[in-house]
Amino acid sequence: MSDVTIQVKDNGPFLVQGDVSIVDAEGQEFAANGKAIALCRCGASTNQPFCTGNHKEIGFESVPRASGD
Ligand code: FES
Repeated sequence: MSDVTIQVKDNGPFLVQGDVSIVDAEGQEFAANGKAIALCRCGASTNQPFCTGNHKEIGFESVPRASGD
């Protein structure tokens, strides 16, 4: 079992929990401070790559389920 969990929230972000680093395309690290991180999955965040809650404003709908295969 991994020490990192990425949970796909219904109609919302990826919730990342665990000891991870989030880096941009140039290798610069975003400050996470060891907290859970919500990453935008809808594209409407005004603070990419983080979720700002804007998915609610745009009515983002996505409820993927793992197939277990
Ligand atoms: S998933 Fe929350 S703003 Fe995009």
